[in-house]
Amino acid sequence: MSLGHDRLKQLMHRGTEFLGCEYAILGGAMSWISERNLVSAISNAGGFGVIACGAMTPELLDTEIAETMTRTERPFGVNLITMHPQLRELIEVCAKHQVGHVVLAGGLPPGGAIDRIKGGGAKLIAFAPALALARKLIRSGADALVIEGMEAGGHIGPVSTSVLAQEILPVVAKNIPVFVAGGIGRGEAIAAYLEMGAVGVQLGTRFVCATECIAHPNFKKAFIRASARDAVPSVQIDPRLPVIPVRALKNKETERFAAKQREVADLLDKQGLEMTEAQLQIEHYWAGALKRAVIDGDCESGSVMAGQSVGMVTREEPVAAIIAELVDEAAGALESRG
Ligand SMILES: Cc1cc2nc3c(=O)[nH]c(=O)nc-3n(C[C@H](O)[C@H](O)[C@H](O)COP(=O)(O)O)c2cc1C
Repeated sequence: MSLGHDRLKQLMHRGTEFLGCEYAILGGAMSWISERNLVSAISNAGGFGVIACGAMTPELLDTEIAETMTRTERPFGVNLITMHPQLRELIEVCAKHQVGHVVLAGGLPPGGAIDRIKGGGAKLIAFAPALALARKLIRSGADALVIEGMEAGGHIGPVSTSVLAQEILPVVAKNIPVFVAGGIGRGEAIAAYLEMGAVGVQLGTRFVCATECIAHPNFKKAFIRASARDAVPSVQIDPRLPVIPVRALKNKETERFAAKQREVADLLDKQGLEMTEAQLQIEHYWAGALKRAVIDGDCESGSVMAGQSVGMVTREEPVAAIIAELVDEAAGALESRG
């Protein structure tokens, strides 16, 4: 093993101990994409796969976990979204299968959710989009944090990864393992965040064109063709309806989303729709739009969610090759420091 690989192992040590894998590289959950095949391939290659539960029912999640377990003996996690109406039942499914790590996305969890997740035996990884929230999540019992910047694909916050890393890592990284996500396309960036105090990283976009990923060939082709500037955030068109921006490749879907926002804003006005219900409708819209692109291959009117690192996706290749390349780049960068 080279000096660089040795140093990388040391820097990732807390992360690999926490996750129980060889490299502290999480395959960020991606709805419709992070299912049994990709998740098991990432874990089998030494990373840490995470099933995207997204809009799944408890029954579907039950099957997905069981099927993933037949494909890998290594640890993997499950991503749950806090606003899912059946969050309690989904947590029970994770506990039934003794899932070791639950990644909670979508803001502060409802009362009792953290205790139920930890009571079921899982470690809790939570998204912290700001320092104040990181502190609150630590006090509430989170075992690790993901800080994800706005370069990422899918739902995004307003702050870049580099700024979040500077604001959050120096303050909390000694107390809790922190994984950095958003815009990471090469190993040199992994090395830099580890040196800043992260224990590992989370990547989504970079794994979409893995051979093992079930995404439609059109979806993968769109990724291979795109450059960073094609991955743009959605725009909020009505100030009364706050929508979380979603980063995706520019296409006709942008117009459909504008129409959907108008329709939901109308329901808010005329039929007294509750804001939480309005936001749930928007989330259902995204789930459908992403499915059209990922599963049906309609990359014109579907949503091709992608991060800015999409420009660094240049070919379809096995997960093991992607991870090996990232690891070698990170090790090379560390070795060059002397
Ligand atoms: C197509 C796509 C779908 C995603 N779906 C989810 C999701 O369902 N839940 C979630 O927590 N994050 C989701 N993400 C975010 C990823 O888990 C990950 O944090 C992100 O991709 C990291 O940034 P990167 O794309 O720059 O690598 C999604 C990202 C993409 C690209």
